[in-house]
Amino acid sequence: MNAKPLRFGIAGLGAVGGGVLRILQNHPVHLERRGGCPLVISAVSGRDRSKDRGVSISAYAWEDDAIKLASRDDVDIVVELIGGDEGVARTLVETALKNGKPVITANKALLAKHGLALAQLAEKNELPLCYEAAVGGGTPMIKMMREALTANAILKFRGILNGSTNFILSEIRDSGRSYDAVIAEAKEKGFLEADPSLDIDGHDAGHKLCILGSIAFGIKPALDKLPRTGIGKIKLEDIQNAESNGYRFKLVCWAERHEKGVVTLAVEAGLVPRDSIMARVEKGKNILMVQGDSVGSSLCEGMGAGPGPTASAVVADMVDIARGGRTDSVFGVAANDLLDGNFVSPEDVAGDFVVLRANEKPLVFSNQRRSEIQEQGKIFRLFSDI
Ligand code: HSE
Repeated sequence: MNAKPLRFGIAGLGAVGGGVLRILQNHPVHLERRGGCPLVISAVSGRDRSKDRGVSISAYAWEDDAIKLASRDDVDIVVELIGGDEGVARTLVETALKNGKPVITANKALLAKHGLALAQLAEKNELPLCYEAAVGGGTPMIKMMREALTANAILKFRGILNGSTNFILSEIRDSGRSYDAVIAEAKEKGFLEADPSLDIDGHDAGHKLCILGSIAFGIKPALDKLPRTGIGKIKLEDIQNAESNGYRFKLVCWAERHEKGVVTLAVEAGLVPRDSIMARVEKGKNILMVQGDSVGSSLCEGMGAGPGPTASAVVADMVDIARGGRTDSVFGVAANDLLDGNFVSPEDVAGDFVVLRANEKPLVFSNQRRSEIQEQGKIFRLFSDI
């Protein structure tokens, strides 16, 4: 194979960036065969050049200023792994696209907030903007929703899209330890955001839901229209009460299509039956369950967080670009053709609910609105329909 090498500039050398370097260093021949050309790193940028990452960076040029990667002649493609919805990450991605360089990013916050403008810029310049790692870590949820299920009108989907909160809920239930103790463990595993409240309060899950909702329903990403609640209000006694009555807590991302462009998207701590598929998605795992008009239901499950899985998705995007793929629509429909979503509040969507009560069996309400059972106590939506 004598094809010209494809040269990457990697910005952000935290756990995921280090994981990407490791994969490229460990599997050069395999990746060259998959990509059809050598995948090489020309230059990198991180916060601390001398930090021990367990992987050598001596072969790569170093940039103190990540944005300079977007202007280097020896960088064909920019990989943004800095994170954050503004600042250096945003400027780097915009500059790279303006300079004619494809971008790979794991940055869900950036895409949820500025995805429309970035997709318009990428599409105007006919450049790939790839982000498989932004949703579901190592699972191919973007490919599933955008490509594999493209024939379908998506009717609804349910997801566990935040590995940290899933890990925290599983650990608290199994060990009875405090939130603080298990949060520290989630941090060690590389699951948590730099600001853990993004995970705990449902914002990270919201970013991912916003992206999937755009692809699923052909609507503009509209983060501000998406209600999010986190896991903070769930107490150990609620978790134990639910378990002993056949239910399990999950931070659920849910989406329903009411009619074309009229949808509900919400992140909500809710209950699933203990013997359901979602209940068995534990620790750092994620799941996406989709119902389409042709396919029926389909699912994708795997590690949703952590350096290895997330780096795996980044490298998959590198190979995709090497193969000449992903120069089409960022969200599955041309950015200029995405609809303005019309959002129905989750409060107005009927469903099944469980009211947990101390020392008594839970009350279960079917096909009702939350407002109709408001008085009953601590109410949680029950997800058992896909
Ligand atoms: N903080 C995120 C999570 C990392 O816990 O899922 C992966 O996106």
